Amino acid sequence: MDIFTFMLTIVVASLSLLQPILSTVDSIRPIQSFRDGGALVSQGGSFELGFFTPDNSNNRYVGIWYKNIPIQTVVWVANRCNPINGSSGLLTINSNGNLVLLNHNKSVVWSTNSSKQAKKPIVELLDSGNLVLRDEEDGNSETNYLWQSFDYPSDTLLPDMKGGWDLKKGLKRLLLAWKSWDDPCPGYITFGFHLDPQHHTFPEAYMLKGTAKLYRTGPWNGLRLSGTPELRSNPLYDFGFVYNDDEVYYMYNLKNKSVITRVFVNQTTSLHQRLVWIEVNQTWRIYSSLPRDECDKYAVCGANANCLINDNPICQCLRGFTPKSQEKWSSMDWSDGCVRSSPLSCMDKSTDGFIKFSGFKVPDTTHTWVNKSMNLKECKAKCLSNCSCTAYTNSDISGKGSGCVIWYGDLMDIRQFTNAGQDIFIRMSRLELGMM
Ligand SMILES: *[C@@H]1O[C@H](CO)[C@@H](O)[C@H](O)[C@H]1NC(C)=O
Ligand SMILES: *[C@@H]1O[C@H](CO)[C@@H](O)[C@H](O)[C@H]1NC(C)=O
Ligand SMILES: *[C@@H]1O[C@H](CO)[C@@H](O)[C@H](O)[C@H]1NC(C)=O
Ligand SMILES: *[C@@H]1O[C@H](CO)[C@@H](O)[C@H](O)[C@H]1NC(C)=O
Ligand SMILES: *[C@@H]1O[C@H](CO)[C@@H](O)[C@H](O)[C@H]1NC(C)=O
Ligand SMILES: *[C@@H]1O[C@H](CO)[C@@H](O)[C@H](O)[C@H]1NC(C)=O
Ligand SMILES: *[C@@H]1O[C@H](CO)[C@@H](O)[C@H](O)[C@H]1NC(C)=O
Ligand SMILES: *[C@@H]1O[C@H](CO)[C@@H](O)[C@H](O)[C@H]1NC(C)=O
Repeated sequence: MDIFTFMLTIVVASLSLLQPILSTVDSIRPIQSFRDGGALVSQGGSFELGFFTPDNSNNRYVGIWYKNIPIQTVVWVANRCNPINGSSGLLTINSNGNLVLLNHNKSVVWSTNSSKQAKKPIVELLDSGNLVLRDEEDGNSETNYLWQSFDYPSDTLLPDMKGGWDLKKGLKRLLLAWKSWDDPCPGYITFGFHLDPQHHTFPEAYMLKGTAKLYRTGPWNGLRLSGTPELRSNPLYDFGFVYNDDEVYYMYNLKNKSVITRVFVNQTTSLHQRLVWIEVNQTWRIYSSLPRDECDKYAVCGANANCLINDNPICQCLRGFTPKSQEKWSSMDWSDGCVRSSPLSCMDKSTDGFIKFSGFKVPDTTHTWVNKSMNLKECKAKCLSNCSCTAYTNSDISGKGSGCVIWYGDLMDIRQFTNAGQDIFIRMSRLELGMM
């Protein structure tokens, strides 16, 4: 059967479906395929997969966008860095059961990489916006997916999509901003749980520019990510965090399925934004945006200092610390941060103590240690037993609080909120405690 006979077959088949548009289907099977101009529409009509050209570009890409809104908003791209020149692209399932994108000379431009071969492979676009490959003989459930686009995010986190790690499958799902608005190839702005949770035991998400930290969410504290007071009960979405031996991820889902919202990272603005589609005005409206102020800029006050957005200047050394360079500090260059006013005695466990600080976004967790079953008293003892330990608190603040996290070395990127934040106990010398 040549491609045109085949297209006619699909057109006939698709007449019974929602979208009687030429060569629009809701699934691809091995004998099927579609050329540039064809489209895959999800069963409920929410999303469409097809070929597109970004404004100001001549390149063709395979992507997924909302079917039911007029402004084309691409949420996922297959061949991000390997565009097709002209309309010669062909999407099909190859002999080993993978979905492949071929160019004019039939070379593979992009492909899925399921290691398991399906007897009867089928590719479907789900109404969640997830493109999945499975065996038609298996049921349509996540455990049966041989490959899914939700495991390889572009710059957008959709509802029900996991942002984070699947350690069993070796997946690290980050958001990678487009290089520019006309080039979907990943640029240098990325967002997500970059560090391997097997070594970074108190995981938190970062926004990076290359390898430089621009922003950090803070770790999950049982209620929210420590630095994101906007993550609270709201009419739009529910959110949650899963942290176990197999998986570490953040996810949100909609309270009302007919609301359209997405989270995406924009390279031009270096912002991580949640947008909501406003039907009456036919526009995307910004619902929240991170980083949101000067104090959210990573380590703006340097080490061992606190950022208070309503103070002038915004940076203050923590109690018990003084500017490392008074001269730079006075000229509003806080990058060197602060050092202890009086040294810890350390060796003699009985002499150091702690001061409790409240309303904090806890410090960067790169150098931390966690035990989810220790109580606060055990946590304090654990901290005192190691000279490099500088702070401790509950790893989970829900209810009465539980678990233990301790920090080693300098405390980075702290801020204080007026109506959110949490307690943290910072190590001080006896001299400092005596002055209270
Ligand atoms: C794309 O195709 C056009 C016309 O066939 C050709 O002029 C152009 O050089 C091609 N561009 C690339 C990057 O291959
Ligand atoms: C197919 O086309 C691409 C891009 O035009 C080219 O780089 C590649 O060498 C070609 N491959 C074959 C087998 O002709
Ligand atoms: C599978 O393909 C994705 C891109 O779609 C790539 O990032 C990933 O490394 C590949 N995995 C393997 C095991 O080749
Ligand atoms: C869900 O959202 C739609 C569109 O905004 C609205 O018309 C509908 O009333 C909402 N349903 C509920 C139960 O809130
Ligand atoms: C990123 O933000 C800029 C400036 O607001 C905007 O012009 C651009 O369209 C945004 N990029 C994307 C991919 O939406
Ligand atoms: C829609 O646009 C109008 C006029 O620009 C504005 O007054 C209104 O607040 C907008 N509605 C929403 C929901 O954004
Ligand atoms: C965590 O704390 C509990 C309770 O103190 C203890 O029994 C357990 O051994 C600790 N686990 C680790 C890995 O230290
Ligand atoms: C203190 O903690 C640091 C960082 O984890 C570790 O390298 C060091 O061995 C510990 N020292 C003692 C005495 O346990």
